[in-house]
Amino acid sequence: MISSLSLSLSLSWLGSCLQYKWQKTLGNYIAVAGSDSSVKIFDRHGQRKNELNLPGRCVGMDWDKDGDILAVISDKSSSVYLWDANVNKTSQIDSGMRDQMSFILWSKAGPLLAVGTNKGNLLIYNQQTSRKIPVLGKHTKRITCGCWSSQNLLALGSEDCSVTISNQEGDTVRQTSVRSDPADVQFSVMKTDERSSPGESTVSVAVGKKTLFLFNLNDPDNPIELAFQQRYGHIISYRWYGDGYILIGFSQGYFVVISTHIREIGQELFQAHNHKDSLTSVAISSALNKAASCGDNSIKIHDLSELKEMDAIVNLEDETQGLDQLSWTDDGQLLAVSTQRGALHVFLTRLPILGHSCGTRLAYLTSLLEVTVSNRVEGEAPVAVAVEVEPNFIAVGPYHVAVGMNNRAWFYALGDSGVERLKDMEYLGTIATMCLNSEYAAALFEGKVQLHMVRRGGEGQHEQRQTRLFPDGDRKEHIVSHALTNDFLFYGTDSGVIVCILVEDWQMLNEYRHPVGIKKVFPDPNGTRLAFIDDKSDGFLLSPVNDSHVEIPSFSPTITGVLWETWPSDKGVFVSFDDDKVYTYAMHKNTIYGPRVVFVGSTKLPFSHKPLLLYNGELTCQTQSGKTSSVALSTHTFLTHTHSPQLTQALMLKRFPEAWELCKVLGGPAGWAEMGRSCLIHMEVELAVRVFRMSGNVGMVMSLQGIKGIEDRSLLAGHLAMFLNDYNLAQDLYLESSCPNTALEMRRDLQHWDSALMLAKRLAEDQIPFISKEYAVQLEFIGDYVNALSHYEKGMTHNNKASHHYPLQCVLWFYFSIQAFIFCIRGVKNLLPSYLSSFLHLCVCVCVCVCVCVVPGA
Ligand SMILES: *[C@@H]1O[C@H](CO)[C@@H](O)[C@H](O)[C@H]1NC(C)=O
Ligand SMILES: *[C@@H]1O[C@H](CO)[C@@H](O)[C@H](O)[C@H]1NC(C)=O
Ligand SMILES: *[C@@H]1O[C@H](CO)[C@@H](O)[C@H](O)[C@H]1NC(C)=O
Repeated sequence: MISSLSLSLSLSWLGSCLQYKWQKTLGNYIAVAGSDSSVKIFDRHGQRKNELNLPGRCVGMDWDKDGDILAVISDKSSSVYLWDANVNKTSQIDSGMRDQMSFILWSKAGPLLAVGTNKGNLLIYNQQTSRKIPVLGKHTKRITCGCWSSQNLLALGSEDCSVTISNQEGDTVRQTSVRSDPADVQFSVMKTDERSSPGESTVSVAVGKKTLFLFNLNDPDNPIELAFQQRYGHIISYRWYGDGYILIGFSQGYFVVISTHIREIGQELFQAHNHKDSLTSVAISSALNKAASCGDNSIKIHDLSELKEMDAIVNLEDETQGLDQLSWTDDGQLLAVSTQRGALHVFLTRLPILGHSCGTRLAYLTSLLEVTVSNRVEGEAPVAVAVEVEPNFIAVGPYHVAVGMNNRAWFYALGDSGVERLKDMEYLGTIATMCLNSEYAAALFEGKVQLHMVRRGGEGQHEQRQTRLFPDGDRKEHIVSHALTNDFLFYGTDSGVIVCILVEDWQMLNEYRHPVGIKKVFPDPNGTRLAFIDDKSDGFLLSPVNDSHVEIPSFSPTITGVLWETWPSDKGVFVSFDDDKVYTYAMHKNTIYGPRVVFVGSTKLPFSHKPLLLYNGELTCQTQSGKTSSVALSTHTFLTHTHSPQLTQALMLKRFPEAWELCKVLGGPAGWAEMGRSCLIHMEVELAVRVFRMSGNVGMVMSLQGIKGIEDRSLLAGHLAMFLNDYNLAQDLYLESSCPNTALEMRRDLQHWDSALMLAKRLAEDQIPFISKEYAVQLEFIGDYVNALSHYEKGMTHNNKASHHYPLQCVLWFYFSIQAFIFCIRGVKNLLPSYLSSFLHLCVCVCVCVCVCVVPGA
């Protein structure tokens, strides 16, 4: 992906090259020195903050590790000039050095400042204690380069062709000589396969602009010297990154990456001829995981994880004399490049991803001081709103947009004729989030939500009527998340309460108590349902009117947000997302299983895309470059493709019109059958009739016609469950319906005698004999005479008083007794002599005949 960077600032000093340094950590300021013996300090928007006038040319400058203090040295003074960024105040310290200073560097681990001189002397100054440690004769010639390690060791390189390593007291702990002038000394960690010694123990230095010299502090006698191809030219500069890799820029325009892993040491992993004539600087941003080189009149940016792909190319057509130095802020947001003719350009390489949506309208940060409001779905052209501050929150409503930082918010009205600035408000704490609806704003700060009108009401209205703080006076809850729909304000607390307030009269409508704390709440656009995430990172869907709630299945603990579908005919679809994936769910309100949420599938998100809006299966995401990009959900491919998996998707999302078309295209009966089943589950009887008609399932069509007019929901659902062969569910549904006997009928028709008997005990005792008898007949048929007998018995005993079939039953009872007897002795038949067995048979037959003939007459 090649994106262009937006130029956020250009400054110009005519003449020669510039020196400049970004404020460390914060990157709010940039200090620039031209040829005019002054150092100017600008904020990141180009506003001049202060200017240090020096007695001579600036030789070096550096910011301390936190970016609080800028230290500057000049060629005509023995003082070090300090500027405190927090109070905008300049001061000086006397270095006590007699010769000219040549080098200055703050420690990256403490308040220590190292200053080197032309004659090789060193001063270590502790800013906290004001202690100065002068070290005379550290080197015999000019100190030209140096570096602090994170353990506060100081490496220095000098024109005397040696490199020293000193501790923070200034004592030399190592010294090594090199063949030519050292430059660009750096500490790093080199990957050795065996014991990796802790901390930064490798010192690297470019020697004579030709070789890279690496030596381990723990093993100084075995240095490694790496040489490079002649055609690359000389080493301009190099940077360590990642797990022991070095990026090197060469004068002939080459951009080379080598490894320091011991087995492949010095091996080139990547090489690109980025600039035709010359390269002047390389830079790395670990925050962005990107590297850049500049040369000729262009900047090229690579992704460190995919070096081959060029991330961006910036051409500065007007800079015909060429570019000079590149430098990124620590957070990677801004990239500065100076030019040979003395100009400085600053590019925006990353924006905070800040955006909000309301319905289909989006508002998002497109530049540090610009918010763009757009509504592509409704065909509105994007409007850029220039804002007063670099915001840390944005809120958009139907008619307004608000931005703010700390405890202050600015409101703008979105009119047909453009954007009108309304007012700014101060709150009683730092605002975490804000929401707007057509009239109100709700700001969350320090556990409270302040609800107030965006525009002031009429003169007659009291201030009190215009603003209100939640939770109410005596409640001690701490609000952690809130949301505003046109009618309701919702908030969730760390104690697990979700409150719904009617905005119109500020009355609490409902309060739901969850067993653990709430993390985030996401109501659907009109507030009838609310998805929420709790402290255990589980997701739920709540119906705020009656507290009924269901857990969202397959809810990943990494999920950070939920978006509801805004396409008007797709109620109940929503997505949850984390940094890598989007998960699609459908809420099915009315199924035979009751309300339920189904997980439909997941979609991979491109790197650093933050979802802002979901409209008909298309996700609009915000990217780091301040743009939006759309991602089609993989769960909605039925909108563009027609294969069988798409039918299942469409049915899971309850998109019946699309599913109907798909079935027509697919043609086969399997599709119609699948859709038919889905209609039964969703209790869409009319549609199911049409679908089963298409598949030629006459039996089902007739069964469905028979239950068409049923209004009792449970009864209807029971029938549908039965048609789906889910008899247990059907039984449960019948039992809760107005005709529980239907359950018994179903079991009897199905010849589920056990269940039927159980139901009969509950519902209709008088049926037990009949069921028992039918059961007995069936048991007899399968040869289970013992149980058949017991059911015959039941059939009689339950009815003996009134029975007029008594004699017949006696006969049958007798008959079965005999049958059972034979059955039993059959097992010991081999033990009986065969004539005895035959005799018994004969007896039985005679008895039965006698009974059958005699008893009915009695
Ligand atoms: C900082 O101080 C200088 C004088 O020391 C003043 O000219 C300048 O306006 C101040 N800048 C700001 C932003 O206050
Ligand atoms: C929610 O929206 C639907 C359709 O737009 C509407 O029928 C319903 O009345 C709305 N409910 C509320 C509480 O506003
Ligand atoms: C709760 O309300 C929702 C929406 O109005 C409704 O669908 C659901 O059936 C209700 N649940 C209960 C248990 O009353």
